[in-house]
Amino acid sequence: MTFAFRGLAAAGAFIALGFPAYAQTEVKIGYALAPESHYGVAAKKFEEVVLAETGDQFKFTHFPSSGLGGEREVIEGLQLGTIEATIVSSGTLANFVPETGVFDIPFLFRDLDHARSVLDGPIGQDILAKFDAVGLHALAWGEQGFRHITNNRNAIHTPADVQGLKIRTMENPVHLAAFEAMGAAPTPMAWPEVISSLQQGVIDGQENPLSVIVSVKLNEVQKYLTLSGHVYSPAMLLVSKPFWEGLDDDQKAAFEKAATEAVTAMRGFVSNVETTGVETLKERGMEVNELSPEEKAEFQASIKSAYEGYYKTYGQELVDSIVNFQ
Ligand code: PAF
Repeated sequence: MTFAFRGLAAAGAFIALGFPAYAQTEVKIGYALAPESHYGVAAKKFEEVVLAETGDQFKFTHFPSSGLGGEREVIEGLQLGTIEATIVSSGTLANFVPETGVFDIPFLFRDLDHARSVLDGPIGQDILAKFDAVGLHALAWGEQGFRHITNNRNAIHTPADVQGLKIRTMENPVHLAAFEAMGAAPTPMAWPEVISSLQQGVIDGQENPLSVIVSVKLNEVQKYLTLSGHVYSPAMLLVSKPFWEGLDDDQKAAFEKAATEAVTAMRGFVSNVETTGVETLKERGMEVNELSPEEKAEFQASIKSAYEGYYKTYGQELVDSIVNFQ
């Protein structure tokens, strides 16, 4: 029986008995960015497909712009079963499933296609499967694009330009190690504190992909944008394990289909902003420079000591197999 038909039959039976139609299950979905961002677009698509597949069995409530707190808090809410779904960056994911940290290694991926094929291939899918052991169910990898540095101190061309730069990083040990190795002064910080910390000068800069820089209008609080593309930024569509276990097989299939379509929409959005975002930010007054291949190589060389740590943590074989994945 299809969901729609089953829904109608159930509703009909209740109405015939004089009861209101059955209650809908609420899906609270939280994410850090605005409804018009890549997260908002994906969350909307996720809802649309779940509703199309299941009739009116579920009711979505969106909490954009960190409405339910920082990403770590939201993931903990999923574990507790107080929040049903989220779209998050890989920022704090390694605190829950340490293996995810491998994808946060700088200069790991050549381009978006490379990253997408690794995440959708066996290495990425094996890591998704590990979330069930920690009270979460990971439905799919999404993405934000490649991260770039913004700051208010100076334009950045070489590692000398980031010496002592007070830069906010995600609460992510892999990123932190890289910025320490470069000679910057990184401060891990939850996203909801970042804009006010930039406004108050507590930090000089931050790093995020164009998708975020454009949608949050970071140009209002940052002067320089350096297209460093130092690291790819994955995202993930997660649901609460208690919620997932309460679904029947047809409902699970509907959520899986919805997740696939949601991340396709997210990736489409990111591909677009990766090509249009720089012009938008220039028009909004940012001073933009792109690292030349030689400058990029200098940054890569500057984090050699961090790479030694990454090899120890994740295994050189795994890191090399990702780098060489065709
Ligand atoms: O920088 C971060 O913490 C993340 O990229 C953000 C902006 C919260 C989106 O997930």
